[in-house]
Amino acid sequence: MKKNAKPLPLIIDCDPGQDDAIALMLAMASPAELDLLGICAVAGNVPLRLTEANARRVRDVAGRPEVAVFAGCPRPMVKILETGEYVHGKSGIDGADLPEPSRPAEAEHAVDWLIDTLRRADDPITLATLGPLTNIAMAIVMAPDIVENISELVLMGGALSLGNITPAAEFNIYSDPHAAHIVFEAGLKLTMIGLDVTHQARATPARLEAIRAIGNPAATCVAGMLDFYGAQYVSTFGEGAPLHDPCVIAYILRPDLFAGQEMRVDIEISSPLTIGRTVCDVHARSGRAANVNVLENIYADGFFELLGERLARLPKNI
Ligand code: BDR
Ligand code: CA
Repeated sequence: MKKNAKPLPLIIDCDPGQDDAIALMLAMASPAELDLLGICAVAGNVPLRLTEANARRVRDVAGRPEVAVFAGCPRPMVKILETGEYVHGKSGIDGADLPEPSRPAEAEHAVDWLIDTLRRADDPITLATLGPLTNIAMAIVMAPDIVENISELVLMGGALSLGNITPAAEFNIYSDPHAAHIVFEAGLKLTMIGLDVTHQARATPARLEAIRAIGNPAATCVAGMLDFYGAQYVSTFGEGAPLHDPCVIAYILRPDLFAGQEMRVDIEISSPLTIGRTVCDVHARSGRAANVNVLENIYADGFFELLGERLARLPKNI
């Protein structure tokens, strides 16, 4: 981002989730660059009543209780809800050890708020999506005109290579492939940050200890979550939890830390074997126009420097 530019209007849609929680902290610790208009919660890693409460807990530890949190869709558009407690624990943010949230969620449904906010916006808004795309797809179906006011949608989801929930699919896209299909076909400026990138952003023991050493409540909470989350990952993916969702916020703040290329990406919605696969046309075999900026690499040391520097700015007491 350019120095001295106006803060970028941003909405985060998420399903916290330890890595969602860390992404929220990174965004809330960056008010000079990001004008966080609100946080929408969706069902995903755990049911909606937990994801929305977790978002509210995280805003408190980040010292940003004024940021509005809206509860959205409690299930995917077509599929049944399949949550991920086996990775995230019963609460979704096991290891965080955070108190009850200080105040409730807003009364308005996240999808209604998204539509109203995008329609009323003077300047186009960036969307950062960290979970299943249900809320965003519902908003696009109900009010297709909002697409004009979305400057870019940066999502964590999909993979160029292998999946994590199935051999073919990544969790966020697999969870609501029909929603992903709607979003990928909507004509938006899309940047996809898939598993190929996020598995390069691993919280190795040295990186984790550097975060713990910051010592404020937010960093202590991040270290606790990564202890839990890393332990769930280790048997399948090896040491060092991948920080999937924080990569989205890091890209918005520091696109220079990433590299990728434009290509056609389609979402598999019918095959039982590969449902939720992001079919990435790397070698332009389909002859169809590119619709996604697919990121492939991250400078991980730079990413962890940014994360540590921002976490250190969060309150010393809560
Ligand atoms: C994605 O799925 C969830 O487990 C994480 O929060 C992340 O958004 C990774 O596949
Ligand atoms: Ca997530």
